[in-house]
Amino acid sequence: MVFVTRKAHFSAAHRLFNPEFTDEENERIFDKCNNPRGHGHNYTIEVTVAGEPDPKTGYVIDLKKLGELIDDVILSKVDHKHLNYDVPELKGIIPTAENIALTFWNLLEPHIHSGKLSKIRVAESDNNFAEYRGVGY
Ligand code: NI
Repeated sequence: MVFVTRKAHFSAAHRLFNPEFTDEENERIFDKCNNPRGHGHNYTIEVTVAGEPDPKTGYVIDLKKLGELIDDVILSKVDHKHLNYDVPELKGIIPTAENIALTFWNLLEPHIHSGKLSKIRVAESDNNFAEYRGVGY
């Protein structure tokens, strides 16, 4: 199996808090990320598709087309938005990198018809990122 990856970038705001927690609990658990008016990140996402290269093209999936799909299905919904308020798919979900990766998987997976979606990695910074591997590889 061969794994191919397309990288993309977007900028968005979010606030980490759980309405079921008290203000003190939210402050203790989420610290600076609980800032009431939110804060921003320049996110990097990496989308990995697994499969065998097509004998005619040599591609697992055309990465240019994957890039267009990421633009249409994901970035158009989240770029320059507030993830807590502007994205219906994230409504009621704490927008951690973990939950963003899961949500992006659910948005994108039905559109991958060449190879299989293998991994979505969402990085909030150079130091912090989450990966979801919905098919186990
Ligand atoms: Ni944050």
